[in-house]
Amino acid sequence: MYQAAKDRYEKMEYKRCGRSGILLPKVSLGLWQNFGLEKTLDEQKAILFRAFDLGITHFDLANNYGHPARGLAEENFGKILKEDMGRYRDEMIISTKAGYDMWEGPYGEWGSRKYLIASLDQSLRRLGLDYVDIFYHHRPDPDTPLEETMTALADIVRQGKALYVGISNYSREQAQKAIEMLKSMNVPCLIEQPRYNMFERTPEEGLFKTLWENGVGCICYSPLAQGALTDRYLHGIPEDSRAARKGTTIGERYLTELRLQQIRHLDELAKRRGQTLAQMALAWVLRENAVTSVLIGASSPAQLEDNVACLNHLEFTAKELEEIDEILK
Ligand SMILES: NC(=O)c1ccc[n+]([C@@H]2O[C@H](COP(=O)([O-])OP(=O)(O)OC[C@H]3O[C@@H](n4cnc5c(N)ncnc54)[C@H](OP(=O)(O)O)[C@@H]3O)[C@@H](O)[C@H]2O)c1
Repeated sequence: MYQAAKDRYEKMEYKRCGRSGILLPKVSLGLWQNFGLEKTLDEQKAILFRAFDLGITHFDLANNYGHPARGLAEENFGKILKEDMGRYRDEMIISTKAGYDMWEGPYGEWGSRKYLIASLDQSLRRLGLDYVDIFYHHRPDPDTPLEETMTALADIVRQGKALYVGISNYSREQAQKAIEMLKSMNVPCLIEQPRYNMFERTPEEGLFKTLWENGVGCICYSPLAQGALTDRYLHGIPEDSRAARKGTTIGERYLTELRLQQIRHLDELAKRRGQTLAQMALAWVLRENAVTSVLIGASSPAQLEDNVACLNHLEFTAKELEEIDEILK
């Protein structure tokens, strides 16, 4: 039986999520990859136990996570909760989402009330939970009126199936509208989940400011550019890496010759700072005031340890930040 480490709250730092009552760990764990059939249940447990022992209290899922079958990550996490971690449920923030393609026919994706409510019911069954802490709309829907999507989110909170709601992949303008709409229904938007890392900086163009001004939290996904901003690919593509797996997007997105050159220069700078590239990449995302937490993935307990140790050196000098901008030009 899993017994959580007694000192688990001594290592992690927690930050308030916008102007809410919730504190999130500065490093959170996502189950998009590694929680389907890529790893055995025991390997998944080892990652989750280590995460919780390191003070990671926030676990992020979505209806479609879990290679090769959608829903598998929720199912596996549900099993692990039932077998080992369930008694720590009240120490955890568990999130899930709906928005991407999940089941056949016209009601299995996007942002209708029909899809969101049915999808969350399915997620709760797979997770074996009565409620999730955060339910997200996973991506903006160009065709469904925003009012319908936001009213469904507000009703989900009123029904007690989620304690808080959030949005993901919304632009600055879309986020502003969603935040206002939810506010008018007395259900505040807790958090936005955008992609943000050294290679993808769109949120700097106004989204961070909007979230900050509205008191909405922000958790950044793929802060390591799916592993590219680590020492993983400095000497080729390891067999057990994400880039070596079929159907992943890391290669085309981040492992071009130009990016690899930048990665080598960033690695040198990280070494001069006395940390690993992964740690520097995470500290760099956390330097933004509006950012509450970095949402990492991990394929081993050792990666978690490396990543959480970013907290030992979060500060940057102006010169270091300039050097990073110069490398990324
Ligand atoms: N809202 C959305 O649309 C959306 C989209 C994508 C992701 N997300 C969320 O964000 C979470 C994280 O996304 P991500 O997995 O792309 O995040 P990431 O942290 O950028 O990448 C994680 C991967 O990097 C490698 N890695 C991690 N730490 C390392 C270290 N210290 N040294 C070397 N390699 C390391 C591992 O890959 P290997 O397997 O190669 O070891 C790991 O699986 C997801 O699980 C999900 O919850 C949300």
